[in-house]
Amino acid sequence: MPFDIARTRAAYPALTEGFVHFDGAGGTQTAAGVIDAVTDAMRAAVGNRSAASVPGRRSLDMVAAARSAVADLLGADPAGVVLGPSATALTYTLARTLGAGWRPGDEVVVSRLDHDSNVRPWVQAAEAAGATVRWAEFDRHTGELPAGQYADLVGERTRLVAVTAGSNAIGTVPDVPAIAKTAHAVGALVYVDGVHAVPHGPTDLASLGADVLVTSAYKWSGPHLAAMVAADPGRWAALRPAKLIPSSDAAPDRFEYGTPSFPLLAGVTAAVDHLAGLDPDAVGDRRARLRAGLAAAQAHEEALLDRLLTGLAERPAITVYGTPARRCPTVSFRVAGMSPEATQEALGAAGFCLSSGDYYAYEYFQAMGLRDSGGAVRASIYHYNTADEVDRLLTELDTVADGGERMAR
Ligand SMILES: Cc1ncc(COP(=O)(O)O)c(C=O)c1O
Repeated sequence: MPFDIARTRAAYPALTEGFVHFDGAGGTQTAAGVIDAVTDAMRAAVGNRSAASVPGRRSLDMVAAARSAVADLLGADPAGVVLGPSATALTYTLARTLGAGWRPGDEVVVSRLDHDSNVRPWVQAAEAAGATVRWAEFDRHTGELPAGQYADLVGERTRLVAVTAGSNAIGTVPDVPAIAKTAHAVGALVYVDGVHAVPHGPTDLASLGADVLVTSAYKWSGPHLAAMVAADPGRWAALRPAKLIPSSDAAPDRFEYGTPSFPLLAGVTAAVDHLAGLDPDAVGDRRARLRAGLAAAQAHEEALLDRLLTGLAERPAITVYGTPARRCPTVSFRVAGMSPEATQEALGAAGFCLSSGDYYAYEYFQAMGLRDSGGAVRASIYHYNTADEVDRLLTELDTVADGGERMAR
């Protein structure tokens, strides 16, 4: 059955405002079920976690439900799910924890394709430990991250390989399983940034080869919370993060700082339930329905991506960066004669929401020599986008490009 776009869009109250959202990579709109779950949790009697009372048990349940929802999303064990405020904060927590055990001569491998949140925490932890940082390079023309280079990058002193499952700049989906295999051959831990990739298709921790993967719920219709998930929950039991003396020493709880936002955790669970409902004909447990729903959404998004890429290629005034073979539905481009920021503003004035700049893909834009001149404009597709919106964006870009040409004359 084709993806029911009308039904999907009806689940997002914000879409009634009429803006065209090609900015899901920066944060998607929120699904109605999420808004309801957060509101219900805020209206209900909720106490801090305690088995002693109904309100206390509610907050315990909200934490447990969020762990199990995220586990279903990724094919993981709920005991492996660390919840936190953002992917950046969680990555810093792990980087500081692991880094405390690194020694001079140890090595970590990061990539220039990654969002800075999967680069700088590792680089800084390595610097603090006197460890060496090694860099995986992307192909400047195609935007691919060749997996073969990792054989030269890793060695017996490699402690960690950090890599993205999907570039938030140009969409590239690296061959993470191959990279993980190389890293595991030398006993290194594989940390995967799934923030950009997870919203765009089914994810399976085991087949990716990720030891730990991080994902942010606000990129998949949920609230601003994130999860860092270990394939083996025993990983957390073996690590000791800095923590307050009275806070829980259980794993994974001891990686979670302060009192969690219980209503937003209820929103995380509702967001996963929303994704599990994307294919109304899907049957089975939530994991099975998630796979079906996200596969249906992925097919829809890929059709839109083809349409967008074809339209952009037909426009000589537009330069698209990267041609990766496997990619998330995310495209960075520039319009001739215009700064990315001016393009973003012209589109924004017409009701089209896109990003401009480096979107924190700092190393990518530095390496491309584009960062100092404003980066690029990013169009990122999400499952609530339509073919009509793609066509309207392309038409609007013609108007914008005409303006740019006039300005350049
Ligand atoms: C690929 C990628 N990784 C990490 C992050 C950081 O996520 P958070 O805002 O949850 O720290 C982002 C945010 O845009 C991202 O796109």
